[in-house]
Order: sequence, then structure tokens, then C-alpha cells
Amino acid sequence: MSERPTIEFIDLKAQRQHIGQAMEDAILKVVREGSYILGPEVQQFEAGLAGFCGAKHAIGVANGTDALILVLEALGIGPGDAVICPSFTFAATAEVVAWMGATPVFAEIDEATYNIDPKGLAAALDTARKHDLKPRALITVDLFGQACDYDPIEAFCKQNGLVLIADSAQGYGARYKGRIAGAIGDFATTSFFPAKPLGCYGDGGAILTDNDEHTALILSLRFHGKGSYKYDNVRIGVNSRLDTLQAAVLIEKLKVYAEEIEKRQLVAQRYTEALKDIVTTPYVMPDCVSTFAQYTIRVDADRRDAFQAALKAKGVPTTVYYPKPLHQQTAYKHFPVAGNGLPISERVAKEVVALPMHPYLDKATQDYIIEAVREALAPARESAVA
Ligand SMILES: Cc1ncc(COP(=O)(O)O)c(C=O)c1O
Repeated sequence: MSERPTIEFIDLKAQRQHIGQAMEDAILKVVREGSYILGPEVQQFEAGLAGFCGAKHAIGVANGTDALILVLEALGIGPGDAVICPSFTFAATAEVVAWMGATPVFAEIDEATYNIDPKGLAAALDTARKHDLKPRALITVDLFGQACDYDPIEAFCKQNGLVLIADSAQGYGARYKGRIAGAIGDFATTSFFPAKPLGCYGDGGAILTDNDEHTALILSLRFHGKGSYKYDNVRIGVNSRLDTLQAAVLIEKLKVYAEEIEKRQLVAQRYTEALKDIVTTPYVMPDCVSTFAQYTIRVDADRRDAFQAALKAKGVPTTVYYPKPLHQQTAYKHFPVAGNGLPISERVAKEVVALPMHPYLDKATQDYIIEAVREALAPARESAVA
């Protein structure tokens, strides 16, 4: 085994170094100028974010969870309504539906991409109706950075009168057949949680849409339901704004984002070339580019703990996203599940494991990780052959 480097799962310090003094200058400028709430950087960043993906509007909010809540609030989704979503995702995707008093209906994923399977949507719709719920929306998740298969999903939503909300917390900027995640769906939401591909230095999120009326509504909702000015309250809203400081950070990060997505492709390609003969490596659909928020492989369920422990012993951090699908979680297990259950979601949750992934993963460190992965899996391969 080659010499042991220090390995970060996501190396934000390396990114800081790459961006350099510009980041510090941008932060200090906000501190000195003092326009901490909805300062000029917020609008500047919102314009940049919308422009990057080709959406008409971007609205900065406090985090990615609020982004989803504000969309549901703007649509008036509540008790008696069903929102279809995947179960193999981060809790926020379904949490927001339940938080609004509506009912999440969990649908199955595609085993190759881990994204919601367009072929399972009809079963989810049936389930919603059987529970006397009114199907209102579909929340898709661009899991691990790959956009969902939106052509059939959009057709299904259109045919069934569902609003399509793309939760692109992990996939903002991913490419899908000539389109860019952020500008796909009636609404797209994203998160700027620090570990996200486009992350800030705290919490942050955004909503993207082409819809002028809903943009005006959400701009009001994020600011206590304001009307023509701050103390004109025309509706019940919340306080959910993107901080000026975080917008300043994000302006700098957006400048390098396209280049970082490219670098992530190289890291992913190197992993795939080196590991595809021993584990299931990520599948990216044709004519698509993933942001590789995570590089997720699959190993045998009964070997995953030992695999992670072996890597940890060699200083290689790994993470399981997500160990339990939502329909099996205490807080969500009473919600309806499409069809006859979600066997794929349940199986992959036991097998997935994510390797260190970020744009600044150097070749030597990656070679060390690859060697560690191969060594950790070697005994099983030998015994399988024997
Ligand atoms: C798929 C998905 N949806 C929503 C969120 C929520 O974002 P935030 O943590 O900014 O509230 C996250 C982030 O953790 C996520 O991964």
C-alpha cells in the first residue's frame, strides 16, 4: 500500500485555496458595507443562478428544505392532497409534504440510476386515489447529482395534472439531454448546504421557476408575506431569506462551478475505470452529465460494514446515503407506498456506499483510495473464485 495521505470526504479547504483571495475580499466587502439582509449580492447571485441553468427566476431562501416548503405553500398544498416522491432520498423531500399537512406517497426508484422510476408513477397515482387523496404534485430528486429521466416524467405530470417540483439539492447544474437541472420542472429547488456541489458557508437554498406569478408570491412568502413594502403584510408568510454573506460566497463559487463539474467528471471516470470490474459503479444515462454530488458504489449488503471499517482503518472516509428508505423510517412508515412495496429502494439502501468525491481530489490520493477499495474487497473475490 502506498503512503497514507490525509483524505477528506469532501475537501472544502482545497476549494477555498483554489478560489483564493477573491472569496475573502467578497466576504469582507459585505461585512464592511453592512447590507446584511437582502443586500445587492443576493439579487446579483439570484440572476447568476437563474442564468447558469436557463431558468427565468431564482429566489434565494434560507435553506433547501424551506425552498420546497415555500413552493408547496405557494401552490396551496395541504390536508387531503397527495404528493408523490421517492423514498430513497434525504428526509427533507417527504418531510416538507407532511409538514404542510399533505400526504407523501412513496414511489419506486430505477435500480440503475437510483432516481424515481417513471414506470412506477402510475402505481403511485393509483395508491393516492385509493387513499381518497387528491394527487397534486410530484417531487423528483436528482439523487447523487444525476437528473431524473424527465421526458417521460414531464409527460406523466402533464397528462395527470401534477405540478412537477424537481428537488435538485444534489443535482443543480446537471445536464439532461441538452437541458440543465435548475431549469427543469415547473419549479426546481436547490440547497447550498456546504457539502452540496454548489454549497455556501452555512445554510442557504433557492427556488427556480419560469412562472412570474408564483415568483411574486414566493418573494412575498419568504419575507413575512410582505406587500408593497416591508411593513405591509398582505398574507401569512415566514422569514426565509438567503443571507447577503452567503450570496457573496456563492457568487464566487458559481464562477468556478462549471469548471468544478468538469473536474468531478474526471474524478468519477477514474474511479469507474479502476473499480468497475469489482463493484457496481454509478450509471449515468446517455446524453446526461451528473454533478456527482456523491460517487456511490454498491457492495454486497452483508459485507458493507466490514468494507467501510477496512477503509476507515486505512484513513479513507465513506458514507452511506441512505441507510434506510423513508417508508421504513419511524416518522414516515404510516404513509402510503405505491404498488406492492418498494423492494428496489429497500435493497439498494443496504448496498450503497459513497467514496470521497470532490473536484480537487488529486490523482495520487485517488489512487490510494482505489487501492484501499480493491484490497478491502479482495478476500470476497478470492473466496468467490475458490
Ligand atoms: C435531496 C435533498 N433535498 C433537500 C435537502 C435539504 O436541503 P437543506 O439541508 O439546505 O435544507 C437536501 C440536503 O440535505 C437534499 O439532499
